[in-house]
Amino acid sequence: MSGILVRTERPEDYQAIDVVNLSAFEGDDEAKLIATLREQSGYRADYSLVAEFNGRPVGHLLMTPGRCNQQKANTPVMIIAPMSIVPSQSRRGIGTALVEAARKKAREEGMAAMIAVGEPGYYERLGFEPASKWGVRCNLPVPEDAVMLVELEDGTLSGGCTVNYSAPFLSLF
Ligand SMILES: CC(C)(COP(=O)(O)OP(=O)(O)OC[C@H]1O[C@@H](n2cnc3c(N)ncnc32)[C@H](O)[C@@H]1OP(=O)(O)O)[C@@H](O)C(=O)NCCC(=O)NCCS
Repeated sequence: MSGILVRTERPEDYQAIDVVNLSAFEGDDEAKLIATLREQSGYRADYSLVAEFNGRPVGHLLMTPGRCNQQKANTPVMIIAPMSIVPSQSRRGIGTALVEAARKKAREEGMAAMIAVGEPGYYERLGFEPASKWGVRCNLPVPEDAVMLVELEDGTLSGGCTVNYSAPFLSLF
């Protein structure tokens, strides 16, 4: 949709990203999570996507590289979390534009899949399927059917595996 621009985070966006997350979620857990992850070594600003609508930041999506631990290999997967849109700007396709940009980036980075935990109904619209289809689980204490996945490279996940979210994610629960 016109008016939507997705770009990489810049330091001057930090406050706006906070506002987006505080408005989209109850409480400040997600805003704090983003601040914590930003301070970790290896943090990639180009994995933090800002969506502008008519020039104003109204959406945010953070990607974190992860591994799906299999018996023979550790397959690289991109974790999508959190994602937030300012409520007054929802249903304009901004979330969809963020996920599409994330998918492109994850592909470029050689990720085998993208994984997200959330409303299955929303992620299904975007081409995700239950991760259980591939025998993929994660270490978060969430219902199995909330774990959604989109394959970027056919067949690499066969045999099943577990995606381990890092400690800052676990501390949300
Ligand atoms: C969920 C969220 C990211 C969607 O962003 P968005 O910019 O409104 O998404 P889009 O405009 O791309 O898509 C909107 C469509 O998704 C649908 N949708 C939104 N949430 C949904 C859900 N939980 N289940 C099914 N469909 C959902 C809407 O009904 C809308 O469809 P419609 O226009 O045909 O009615 C946003 O509402 C949000 O930030 N929510 C609070 C934070 C959150 O839950 N983030 C994690 C996502 S699980």
